[in-house]
Amino acid sequence: MKANPGGQIDPNEIVGREEIIEQIWDTLEQQSIRMNAERRIGKTTIIQKLCEEPRDGWIPIFQDLEQYHTAYEFAIAVFREVEKYLSVGKKTAHRTKALLKACGGMEVKGVFKLPSFSTDLPWKDILSSSIQDLITERSKQNERLVFLWDEVPYMLESIKNREGEAVAMELLDTLRSLRQTYGSIGFRMVFTGSIGLHHVIKSLKRKNYANSPVNDMLVTPVLPLKPEPAKELAIKLIEGEYISTNELEATTHAVAKASDGFPFYIHHIVKAMKLTGLEGTVKNVEQVVSQQLRDPDDPWELNHYRGRIRTYYGSELEPAVVEILDAIAVASNALSVNDLFNDLKNSGTLDDRELLIELLRLIEQDHYLMRNNDGHYYFQFPLLQRWWKLSRGL
Ligand SMILES: Nc1ncnc2c1ncn2[C@@H]1O[C@H](COP(=O)(O)OP(=O)(O)OP(=O)(O)O)[C@@H](O)[C@H]1O
Ligand SMILES: [Mg+2]
Repeated sequence: MKANPGGQIDPNEIVGREEIIEQIWDTLEQQSIRMNAERRIGKTTIIQKLCEEPRDGWIPIFQDLEQYHTAYEFAIAVFREVEKYLSVGKKTAHRTKALLKACGGMEVKGVFKLPSFSTDLPWKDILSSSIQDLITERSKQNERLVFLWDEVPYMLESIKNREGEAVAMELLDTLRSLRQTYGSIGFRMVFTGSIGLHHVIKSLKRKNYANSPVNDMLVTPVLPLKPEPAKELAIKLIEGEYISTNELEATTHAVAKASDGFPFYIHHIVKAMKLTGLEGTVKNVEQVVSQQLRDPDDPWELNHYRGRIRTYYGSELEPAVVEILDAIAVASNALSVNDLFNDLKNSGTLDDRELLIELLRLIEQDHYLMRNNDGHYYFQFPLLQRWWKLSRGL
């Protein structure tokens, strides 16, 4: 197998993930899912595998929503996808086409042309009737439908910025209502994305949005690869890239450990060893990792962990979040709320204990930190802690 960090990989090159994929199919029997996980951990790869190798009786439809910036664009993309699926069985989305024709759309030589004025078109009806069309046809065959939607929060954020909070909220409500209407006949959705859905919903709540539009969906965490699959991926890549080594076991162990089990970093480490012509040794793994973490081009895209803090928490709270992470990064043990509160109070950054607790909850939800049994905070990923210290000169 060749190293391909960040590229789309073949389904048979996906290592590990059997367990979570089984869990997802089991959960989908009952309810929809939102995958909650850190960036670059392998979410898209998992849903692509769900799409390419569905469990019997399921029809998965995968869509990357990053490219849609309005509710109408999204509704039409769903309609197009539904049409594509129905056409395989020589069927068509009758209701939606009738609706679009009433708005000025037309069929020309078998090609459906959308109405020329897209503004003010009833996107909610287009979305709902597309799904209804699909369900009517497919459930005849006893098949259940699952939409695998990648980058949902990103699209909602775009819609919010372009069309306003109200439209983003309506879209979330419409999707929820579709899940409620058709849930009993097995209709499901899987949401994922590289930014936290909770941040988008939080910003909508500031605009008086009182609903909990996704609380019917089960949060499914995606964790890094366990040591064994991480080593398996390292072995496959080292062999596939013909990296010579006299210590394969120790080298792959070092790769698995240094990468914290993130397949993206495993691909990067092996790629860098290949490009620099290094032999597979524990020392060389360490050298490559150390170089990559300091690389100003940031091949592992770690600057994102610092850059997103202002967007997520706002410029007012940014200094407190950064100071919390600095303190935990250099501490030799996990830190308690009181330790952190004293630090922040002494430096004059924050003197509200309740706010600190709320911030820590959010920082934990954003996967920077975890709590031990005593409720003390430490970095969830040692690699991130290492990079944080390096990049902040701590
Ligand atoms: N199970 C896996 N086996 C092998 N390689 C993987 C696996 N999962 C991910 N990768 C590698 O990691 C890269 C990133 O994975 P992926 O795009 O799925 O992450 P993501 O969580 O969707 O990232 P983002 O947060 O940016 O959307 C892939 O391009 C591939 O190189
Ligand atoms: Mg992704």
